[in-house]
Amino acid sequence: MSFGLAPVTASFLTDADFRSILYIISFGLFIYGLSGLTGPKTAVRGNRIAAVGMAIAIVATLLVPDVNNIVLIILGVAIGTAVGVPAARRVKMTQMPQMVALFNGVGGGAVALIAWVEFRDSDGFADRPTYVAIFSVFAAIVGSVSFWGSNIAFGKLQELIDGGSKVIGSAQIQTLINVALGAIAVACGTAIVAGSHSEILMIGVLVSAGLLGIFLVLPIGGADMPVVISLLNAFTGLSAAATGVALNNTALIVAGMIVGASGTLLTQQMAIAMNRSITSVIAGGFGGTIEAAAGATSASGGTVRSTSAADVAIQMAYARLVVVVPGYGMAVSQAQHAVREMAKLLEAKGVEVKYAIHPVAGRMPGHMNVLLAEADVPYEQLREMDDINGEFGRTDVALVIGANDVTNPDARNKPDSPIYGMPILNVDESASVIVLKRSMSSGYAGIDNPLFVNPKTSMLFGDAKGSVADITEELKAL
Ligand code: TAP
Repeated sequence: MSFGLAPVTASFLTDADFRSILYIISFGLFIYGLSGLTGPKTAVRGNRIAAVGMAIAIVATLLVPDVNNIVLIILGVAIGTAVGVPAARRVKMTQMPQMVALFNGVGGGAVALIAWVEFRDSDGFADRPTYVAIFSVFAAIVGSVSFWGSNIAFGKLQELIDGGSKVIGSAQIQTLINVALGAIAVACGTAIVAGSHSEILMIGVLVSAGLLGIFLVLPIGGADMPVVISLLNAFTGLSAAATGVALNNTALIVAGMIVGASGTLLTQQMAIAMNRSITSVIAGGFGGTIEAAAGATSASGGTVRSTSAADVAIQMAYARLVVVVPGYGMAVSQAQHAVREMAKLLEAKGVEVKYAIHPVAGRMPGHMNVLLAEADVPYEQLREMDDINGEFGRTDVALVIGANDVTNPDARNKPDSPIYGMPILNVDESASVIVLKRSMSSGYAGIDNPLFVNPKTSMLFGDAKGSVADITEELKAL
């Protein structure tokens, strides 16, 4: 005998208020999890908490009474897990930006497809209020731009397509084409909102917005790519929120707005750190400028002093303050654990060790913080650029490990340099500078660095991990 328990349980589980409670719990977990991402010690836990929030939101959505294609949903989750989990486990820290681009693109693509499915399900929004058509068309345009733009960004960063600036004809012709594509997408969308049910119009929206996404990202190159990825991420968030309005799904609205807002702030902060305006990033041309500049400046003269691990060890062992400046090369060679071991030996000799973190050192925001945290470098020893720049004047040795552009004094002194105005770490104010890299070749921006021929600077050539290990051995012997 059931005493009517089963129907009561079923109606409770499918009750809209119950789902709302689950959604509110999941938003709380999203926000609590996000706050954990502000520091490396709490980041992993924050990520897990947000993942639990997402699991709860998915369960709540599956409890919506008219969800009936459960087998398809389970199949989708299984395929996504089978592809996503190994990919996320295998990805190297240096490949994280393209991974983010790919995942972000998938989100935008899903949103665009949902808009299309909604259009088909409702015979062109025939039985839906106008606002549903407006938000769905918005989601289709922005989601499609984001999907195709993110795929181009992925292709560039993964070097599947040429990373330089690509335009059709000239920059002006490209701008005209982009304006035309944007106008076609908006015109088709407006016709749908005005009551036309023709599917060709929806396909017109998706295709023209997709082409716009491709042509917007193709001209962007070089150091601007992560800014673009962050911008596309914000777009995906906004389009997801618009889908949430159209589908009357609070979880999508809140999650989409969180992504949209955080993506916008991150884009802004990265642009500030590189002294670029977001409009000039979208206008493109940065990569092109840098390529031109690279050829023009490749022959800057000056005497390069090379040094040995033994000399570096002696110099640092007798220093009071050593500031380690990590960069992309430290990430590539995975030298962070060796650096930590070296620093411990220096500290045992009474040397104070600090780490100078430039906001765009490496290839993604927070790259150096994550690597150093992984090697258990005490967080208190990490100094942001604005804090450490005042300390280089009293620094005995600045040890630059695989960093280049973020230490380039031309950004401060040479108005015609492509990176002029980018805030840098003022390592050249230290009593002595030691640079660990493999050769005299340039960094990401493709330009010479006069720091390397500064009389205060000595170069220790070689792979960063090997060089740090050699220095460590010499320190042990002292
Ligand atoms: P870079 O200027 O790119 O310089 C890295 C240096 O590391 C290179 O000059 C390279 O010289 C050296 N290197 C590479 N592999 C090495 C290895 N195995 N061992 C030793 N050295 C190695 O890096 P940075 O100073 O960190 O500056 C970051 C640059 O990337 C900036 O231009 C920034 O705008 C851009 N960027 C940043 C981001 C974010 S958000 N962080 C994203 C994209 C681009 P050798 O080849 O001679 O060894």
